[in-house]
Amino acid sequence: MKFFVDSVNMDDIRFAHELGILSGVTTNPSLVAKEGVDFTSRLQEIVSVVKGSVSAEVIATEAEEMYKEGKELAAIAPNITVKVPMTLDGLKAVKALKADGIETNVTLVFSSVQALLAARAGATYVSPFIGRLDDIGHSGVNLIGEIANSFALHNIDTQIIAASVRHSMHVAEAANQGAHIATIPPKVIHQLVQHPLTDKGLDAFLADWEKMNEKD
Ligand code: E4P
Repeated sequence: MKFFVDSVNMDDIRFAHELGILSGVTTNPSLVAKEGVDFTSRLQEIVSVVKGSVSAEVIATEAEEMYKEGKELAAIAPNITVKVPMTLDGLKAVKALKADGIETNVTLVFSSVQALLAARAGATYVSPFIGRLDDIGHSGVNLIGEIANSFALHNIDTQIIAASVRHSMHVAEAANQGAHIATIPPKVIHQLVQHPLTDKGLDAFLADWEKMNEKD
């Protein structure tokens, strides 16, 4: 499983990039609004750092408008992936963008049938939102497993991005359930690195080294 970062903040994106773990970035309109930046300029900044897929979401809701907006976003850089919501119009837009050789990420996926439809329309990626499913008492990680089984059974090569990730267990379970990618908020990257036994072990190594040097 690969790691994307779910952020439009340049410090967070550079931080993840410098760790050597970053294969891509996902953005969404809420993240852009929270950051309060010009979307096009920020995408230009992101693609100057990250060479993997950078998902940029359309705001239009009608297929023809989604297609036009998607073409404009894709023109920013070759590694822009057009993010399209899981609607009937979204599926039409995915088909049209694929015909132009443009990668798409179908977002707001909450069932395996939605994922199958997105894949058949030609989506490069599907993004099941696992945290938001957990919030309403369903199992987000089980959905990842269902989609992975369905795609394997039907020889579908659309990649599964585990999205709406809230904590490190989501990442571990998404990997076990067959997600190709997890798109992770920056705070979860910090959680993933930490383990109390790592800290304890490192403290002990350094203390023993110190003691040995004191004897000399
Ligand atoms: C994914 O592409 C979305 O941007 C994101 O993961 C949504 O997560 P949220 O449910 O925390 O808003």
